[in-house]
Amino acid sequence: METFAWFGDPEVMKFTPFGPDESVTATLDRIRRYLEHQAQYGFAKWMILERGTGKPIGDSGLMYCSECRRFEPGYRLLPDYWNKGLATEAASAWLQHGVHELGLTDLMAFTHPDNVASVRVLEKIGFRFSHRAVLMGMPSKIFTLPDSSY
Ligand SMILES: CC(C)(COP(=O)(O)OP(=O)(O)OC[C@H]1O[C@@H](n2cnc3c(N)ncnc32)[C@H](O)[C@@H]1OP(=O)(O)O)[C@@H](O)C(=O)NCCC(=O)NCCS
Repeated sequence: METFAWFGDPEVMKFTPFGPDESVTATLDRIRRYLEHQAQYGFAKWMILERGTGKPIGDSGLMYCSECRRFEPGYRLLPDYWNKGLATEAASAWLQHGVHELGLTDLMAFTHPDNVASVRVLEKIGFRFSHRAVLMGMPSKIFTLPDSSY
């Protein structure tokens, strides 16, 4: 299963609250949850395909965070594809879609404070640091999206 290449990778999942998926079965359960979210809201995490080859290289999307009671963006890529601007491109497209097409308001984002690449992505797409908190058991920086950003 291609998606397990990143959902099961300890490096990619280092700053994800529950760490890497331990098995392909766990990744299948995860994808089932994404499909349920898709059915309920009309969107979820989607696969990122490499332009040209169509190879699955990561995922990005908007998900409802029940602990935060808000929608939040997410993004992950195989390490070979880091630092090429791809997460910024994907997350920015999701935010445009979320705000303008879906009419979502009150979006938030969170990431582990040591996840400097993710913090940078959030800043580049318009989020601003709000405060620190523990979310899903993980020390986190919480970000909000100023009204004027999108
Ligand atoms: C977070 C992640 C998706 C970023 O993807 P990406 O496609 O590399 O991101 P981008 O290239 O769009 O932007 C990365 C930015 O972080 C910066 N950056 C990356 N590593 C850095 C480091 N160690 N120190 C400082 N800046 C760093 C890059 O320079 C770039 O900023 P710039 O455009 O101002 O130069 C990728 O690192 C990843 O998949 N990590 C594992 C999964 C993860 O942590 N997801 C987020 C969970 S909240």
